[in-house]
Formats: sequence, C-alpha cells, structure tokens
Amino acid sequence: MDKYRIGIVGMGTMGRNLLLNIASHGFSGAGFDKDATKVRLLEQEGAGMQVKGFVDVTAFIDSLEKPAVIILLVPAGKIVDDVIVELQPLLAKGDIIIDGGNSHFTDTTKRVDQLEAVGLHFFGMGVSGGEEGARYGPSMMPGGDKEAYQYVQPVLEAIAAQVDGEPCVTYIGPGASGHFVKMVHNGIEYAIMQLIADTYEIMRVAQNWGEDKIQETFAEWNKDDLKSYLLEITADIFAYKDTDGTLLVDKIKDEAKSKGTGKWTTQISTDLELPIPTIDLAVALRDLSKYKTLREKLSTVFERQKNDKPVFKDAAFKDLLKQSYTFGLVTIYSQGIHLLSRASEVYNYQLKLNEIARIWRGGCIIRSSFLELIRKGFEREAGLAHLFLDPEVSSILKYTEQSVRTLVAQCITSGVSVPAYANTIGYYDAIRSAELPSNLIQAQRDYFGAHTYELIGKSGVFHTDWAHPSGNIPV
Ligand code: 3PG
Repeated sequence: MDKYRIGIVGMGTMGRNLLLNIASHGFSGAGFDKDATKVRLLEQEGAGMQVKGFVDVTAFIDSLEKPAVIILLVPAGKIVDDVIVELQPLLAKGDIIIDGGNSHFTDTTKRVDQLEAVGLHFFGMGVSGGEEGARYGPSMMPGGDKEAYQYVQPVLEAIAAQVDGEPCVTYIGPGASGHFVKMVHNGIEYAIMQLIADTYEIMRVAQNWGEDKIQETFAEWNKDDLKSYLLEITADIFAYKDTDGTLLVDKIKDEAKSKGTGKWTTQISTDLELPIPTIDLAVALRDLSKYKTLREKLSTVFERQKNDKPVFKDAAFKDLLKQSYTFGLVTIYSQGIHLLSRASEVYNYQLKLNEIARIWRGGCIIRSSFLELIRKGFEREAGLAHLFLDPEVSSILKYTEQSVRTLVAQCITSGVSVPAYANTIGYYDAIRSAELPSNLIQAQRDYFGAHTYELIGKSGVFHTDWAHPSGNIPV
C-alpha cells in the first residue's frame, strides 16, 4: 500500500482544506477525524486526488510515510494535549507533530519541551487565511524544531500563498515563536477591524452616507496603495443583499465576539510592558459591544444630538478620511511589530521582522500593500527600534498626521464615536514626546506610597516626606 506524505488530524474546515491544498500540489495526504461525516466530506471533496480519510487512529498512523508528519488542526487548549496523548504511543522517535491551530504560545513552549524529551519533533505553526487561505494558499508561521521544519519545508512552501514568486512561509524562530507571531498577527487584525468599524461609523453617523457610497469608498481604497484583504471583504459586505433585498450587515447584532487571540496579545503586552494601545482598545471595544442593554439605557440618558447636515464638507472629506485611515493602519502595524521585537529579545526568538512582514504580504487576514513597505524598512535596518523611525513610514505619518487630528477633533465635537482613530493619534503624540508628564506620577507614587523616584542627572533613588518638606533623601 502506498504511504501518505502528510497526515492531518482534525477534518474541520481548516484541516480538510489544508489537506486538499496539499494534495493539489502533488503530495499525498491522509486525514483523521473521529467524526465519520467529516471524513466522508474529505473523501467527496478530494475525489480523484491522492487523499484518504480515516476514523481509526492506528490505521491513520500506519498509512503515513516515515518519519510520520502529522499536522494538528484541532481547537486550541486541552484537545491538543488529548490528541498528542492519543498519538504518542503510535509514533516512533523522529516523527514530527506540527500544531497548526491557534494555541497559546505558553502551551506550545511546554509541548516543545515535553515532546523533545521523548524524541519526537514538534513545532507550533500559526496558519492564517481562513477557509479560502487553507485551500488555496495560507500564510504560515512555523516556529520551534528547525530540523523538523526543514523536512516539511518543500510541502509548506508549495502550499503557501505566493507573492512575487515567494512563498508566504518561513522558519520563524525557536520555541513557541510561530504561535507568538500568529497571536500578534491576530491582535493587529482586531485593531485594523476596529479602525474600519470606526470608519464605517464616521461614514454613516457623521456623514449620513448610504450603503452605496460606503461600499464604493471601501472598494476604491482597496484598488490603490491601501489594498488589503480586510478592505476587500468590507467592500463585499456592503454589497451583500439579503433575500429581501436589504443589506445583511444592517441586520447583524452589534455585539462582537472573539476567540481570544486578541486578548492574549493584550495580556502579554502588559506582561512585557510594551504598549500596544490600539490593539488593547480593539479588544475592549469588542467587550464593550456586548453590553447592549446598558448601552441602550445610556443612550437615552446621554442622548447624542443628531446632526442635520454632514459633519465634514464632502469634497475634502474623502481625502481626510483616507489619510486618517492610512495613519491608523501604519500605527497599528507599528505597535504589533514593536511587540514582536520586544518578545524576540525576552524569549530569544531571533525574529527576522523583514521576513515576518514578507510572509504577511499574502494569504493572511492582515495582508496589505503596506507590508511591502514594512518589509523594506526592516531590510534597510534589521535592528530598527520602532517602525516610526523608518524614513518612509515617518514621511507617511507626517503627511497624514494633520488629517487624523482634524477628523478626531471634529468627530469628538459632534459626539461621533471614533475610539480607534483617537487612540492612534494619542499613541503617536505620546511616543514622540521626549518629555512626558510621568515625573508627576512618580512624585504622586512617592507621596502616597513611599515608592521612591529617580532624579534627572543624579544617580540613585530618593524619597521625600512630601507633607513635611525635608528635601529628597537617598534611600
Ligand atoms: C481566527 O482565528 O479565526 C481569527 O483570525 C480571529 O478570530 P476571532 O475574531 O474569533 O477571535
């Protein structure tokens, strides 16, 4: 019996489509799932291809070439451990397990160590692109066991999205770096989605635009230098009519859910003390949206004055909005990438930020033409401390800065909610301040908690009895 090159555990949407992608590129694949319906679906969709489905785990493992390569595409968390426990007795030293789900990077760190100890190769691989990406070319972020990655590299490079002849996959780095990078990818995704939601709010609330104008504008932006997957799907959403001829999006409850990767990004950024406020805000806004009843109640207490005429004059407004969106987008990528560079130092991930920007140019949810600019920036200077320092990025920010100020000021004056836009300009103003008012915070901390402070131009730490002036006392 012919053996299969790759095995996938989990024949849900992602697993099945990835297996079909693998088979379309000439590599044979076996799929395992306990659910016979999912296995049948694989065999139907893969008819005529080198794929086979299994509901029996032993037969599945027996069907694989040696060393066995098994990609797990199962929900993150305990299920990943349960699957590993089930597979382990059937595997031999040198076999390779790849976790292709959205696992928390700390779980991946544990699994890397645990499986290395029993002679199995393991790596965590972020996969982005949803169903379509899995089937026709995702962006993949594998990190961990390099030797194992190299064994699977030809398959991964073949099935990945391709941009300018280059596959959207690269070895990310040691340990759980692959899953860490995917998590931050999702954090950036949350923030860009919130920025687009703010944009929609401005269009409909500040300007009273109808669906056609909203749709046209997103579609137009997506044609030029702002081209991105998220704008593309947004334009499609505003063109999608329900069976009764009205827009489907208008009927969807305004309560956003999440699966947790954005929250994880926010959590780790506070642990690493590396601010990513627009990502934090996007997570918070999804949570805030869930308080529908409270929002409804508050909307009657603090009624917003309806504007009879548009807040902005239309002629200049389109440019103002587009420039503000550009500013926001660049700021969001910059925050996410700043977090990656910090994590790389702390966890010794040895991340190559130019390579990460390169593989995000295609296949993944946050793909956009800006990633080429970011890639070039880190190619020019690998150790760039912050993307804002790149000459091309800084000239974009300088050029668009005034627009976002005008946009935010006017929206706030008119009571239009633009939290993401306001946050990006707030971040910019803080991070480009050589002097912040944080000296006052230090004084307050010392006043009420004797937490001490440092003095400009003087070494050591000091404490003052602020209520009974006696000078600063070294401690
Ligand atoms: C995914 O993993 O499917 C998305 O990238 C993020 O999903 P969420 O918005 O449900 O958290």
